[in-house]
Formats: sequence, structure tokens, C-alpha cells
Amino acid sequence: MLDTDAAPAVPWVDVAPDWLGEPWPSNLTRSDQGVMELAGVPLTELAERFGTPVYLLDSADFLNRAARFREAFDAAFTAIGSKCHFFYASKANLNKTIARWALESGFGVDTASAGELAIALAAGVPADKIGFHGNNKSRAELEQAVAAGVGSVIVDSVAEIELLGEIAAAQGRVQPVLVRITTGIHAGGHEYISTAHEDQKFGLSIRPAPGEFDSPAMVALLKVLDQPSLRLRGFHSHIGSQILEEQGFKAAALALVKLRVELQRRRGFLVDEINLGGGFGIAYLPDEAAMDPRQAAIALATTIADGSRSLGVTPPEVAIEPGRSLIGPAGITLYTVGTIKPVTVTAMDGKVSTRWYVAVDGGLSDNIRPVLYGAQYHGELANRVSDAAAKNCRIVGKHCESGDILIGKIGMPEDIAGGDLLAVAATGAYGRSMASNYNMLLRPPVVAVAAGQATEIVRRETISDLLALDVGD
Ligand code: LLP
Repeated sequence: MLDTDAAPAVPWVDVAPDWLGEPWPSNLTRSDQGVMELAGVPLTELAERFGTPVYLLDSADFLNRAARFREAFDAAFTAIGSKCHFFYASKANLNKTIARWALESGFGVDTASAGELAIALAAGVPADKIGFHGNNKSRAELEQAVAAGVGSVIVDSVAEIELLGEIAAAQGRVQPVLVRITTGIHAGGHEYISTAHEDQKFGLSIRPAPGEFDSPAMVALLKVLDQPSLRLRGFHSHIGSQILEEQGFKAAALALVKLRVELQRRRGFLVDEINLGGGFGIAYLPDEAAMDPRQAAIALATTIADGSRSLGVTPPEVAIEPGRSLIGPAGITLYTVGTIKPVTVTAMDGKVSTRWYVAVDGGLSDNIRPVLYGAQYHGELANRVSDAAAKNCRIVGKHCESGDILIGKIGMPEDIAGGDLLAVAATGAYGRSMASNYNMLLRPPVVAVAAGQATEIVRRETISDLLALDVGD
């Protein structure tokens, strides 16, 4: 029997006793003097040592979350006589250190470009623990992935299947593959991060086109089975990102269970594995709750077990690829406050008020998510607490864009001043990995903090880095 009411209230990771609460990392506390401390190191000290903006990572938080995902999915899938494989979705945030944390936690690494593959390999991740994704992989990327011996290539088009078959044959290898399936399920925090509905670029649909007998997914699967240099391991589905409810995952899992049986009927071949991708949502604001991995694991295991049983087959093995839910909550970005400017705003109802524009020393180049997705964040002063009343603020960056807004509306103490430090929570995922050099800003360093020790794991870019790429006269 699966225990469905095992989920306690937050937190489900091991936390410092005086933790500030979600969405802060589990080892973020405040000293008696009101200074934020990460794993015992004052943020004032980190700002002085590494400068700002700086991305800070609570490495124990990452390791705990990874362990909790493993516990939850191992337990749920063992209970149905199956097993679960784990991959860290490296697009969320990748450097050699994070790849090693993933490995240490029993995760493989999911990569989606030659660059991600190279970093994972440089970190010492064994190739057979690497998945290689992409909707438009180049010949060179496929050649590198096959030569490295990646555990699976997740193929995304019929043309890719032919190309990969040819490359594997030329290298004298049999390449295991998963086929990326579009189940038609739409889930996730924003249209741009929902990936399995029909009208988008990823995957092969399970619905036949008008007038066709076979679906694009079936055509692709039969094609893989016909290539002697490819071995079909299973299906892959990633339905979107920042998902807070289980329904979409369950519906996608069931669609894959049915497809597995359809392929068996067609070809007598039962695939071993279904990979359900990532997308488990996290808390960005104090009143939000993350998706509980235990509930997700139980819901998925139950759906897969019941669906398989009713169709007369044993359940497949399963894999998941969380990215954000491991590294997102572990990260914060620390900025220094600069210019503060009052602006008079007139609301729709004619009410006039003041909005204080608080500018920090970063912005959309270190966190594009508010601009790209309307993502909301929470921030607090890191160097002190204040008894002053709150005033209506907007946290903006230093870019030449009026849309360069990090937090659209937040109350900040009236005495907030230039030189204060501002910490923004839950920036561990898709911050550094989507950072740019817009306005030739230098991408901030990544600093890992654990047990009173801070280690720079990615250094700050320098003007020399910028000039080094500029090879014109
Ligand atoms: N697996 C595949 C095949 C994916 O495409 C993704 C994310 C993941 C796993 C990991 O998803 P996660 O667990 O991190 O939600 N830049 C957007 C998110 C795009 C995610 C793309 N794929 C954002 O900042 O919200």
C-alpha cells in the first residue's frame, strides 16, 4: 500500500533551526544583529569578498532536495515493483561543481547542447549517466554524444533518427535512444515553458495527422526499431516547467503507458523505460508552496502501476529530470542598492501615490525571468533589519531598458538607502544559466556556501573576458 498522507507541512528538507522560511534556502538565517547568514557566513562578508551582484548557493540545500527526490521516487516505484532513474536537468544551472553534487546524489545529468555535455564530462560524470537532448541537434553534436558514449540520446524528429543511425553505424556503436513524445498535455507556469501541447517545436505527437493512420510518434518509434545501430530504450515526455499540480504529469504518464502497449501490439516490443522529464514547481514567494515530491511520486507510481496492470503489462522503469526543484530554492542573488527615486503614479481610479524605484547593480542580465515570463520574486534587505514602515517600491536593474524590472511591487523599509544589500530569493535556477552580457555587464560569480565556508565555483567575468572575444581590429 502506498502511504498517501505522509506529507508534513513545509519544510521537507533539513533546515537550520532558525531558517527564514520559504522561499529562502534552508540554511539562510539572520544573526542577532539582523544580518542574513548563509550556512553561517554573513552576507555582508560575502558581498565584501566576492562583490555584488553575486549568485549564492546553499549546497546542503541542493543535496537535501536531491536526496528527498530520490527517497520519494525510489520508495514509490519500488512499491509498484519498478524502479526510478534520476537525472539533473543541467540547463537550470550548470558548472562542474553542481554536476558533481548531482552525481554524488545519485543523479545522472541531462544535457541539451555540446556545451552542457562538455561541462558534464569535464566534471567527471560518466557518459552512460548522461542524457542528450535537443530539438535541433547538429551532426557534430550527435557525433560527440555518440563518441562519448552517452547513456541515451533523446531523439526529437524522424530526420534525427536517420542521422543518428548513420553516425552510430559509422562509429561501430549501438546507441540507446528515447523518443521524445508529445502527449498533448499542456502544463506549466508560462506558455513559453509548456512543452508538450501540440503547437510547439518539441517531440513527436501521439495523434495521427489528418488522413494518416500512424501518429508521428509511432512512425518515429518504428523507424528507431528498424535501425540496427540504435536501441530503443523508451519514451520521453516533458510537459512543462514550474508545474504545481500533479494532473498533467499523471495524464502524460498514462498516455505513455498506453503508447508502450500500442507499440508492443504493433511490433511485439515492450520498451523498458519512460522518462517523465522535469518541471516540478517551487515556491518563489513567501505564500507559495512547492510541489511535494512525495505526492508527485505516489501519484505517478499509482497511475503507471494501475494503467499497466489494466493493460496486462508489467510497469516500465521510470526516469525523472528535475532541474529547478533541486537548484532553484538553493540559490539567492545578492545585490547592492544604488539610486532610489520617487515617481508619482496615477492609478486607473485616479488615485495618486508614490512608487520608489530602487535600482540595484544587476538586473535583466543576471535574471531575465521577470521580463521573459512575468516571474515574481521576493527580496529583503540582507545587511540589516529595519523597524521603519514599508513603502511601495519597485526593484529595478541598471540596464538601458525601462522593462528592466526584477520585482514589480514590494514593500521595503522607508529608510532603505544606497549601499544596503538586497537579497532576492529562489534565483538558483535559470538565473546564471540564462544570464547575458547586455550593456556589456559582467556576468556575476557563483559562490557555494556550506558549513561556514564559501567557495567561488564560477568566477565573475572581467572586461578582459569581453575584450578577448572581440577579435576585430
Ligand atoms: N527535462 C527537459 C527535457 C526539459 O526541457 C527541462 C526544462 C527539464 C527537464 C527541467 O525542467 P525543470 O525541472 O527545471 O522545470 N527557462 C525557463 C524554464 C525552461 C525549462 C526548459 N526545459 C524558466 O526560467 O522558467
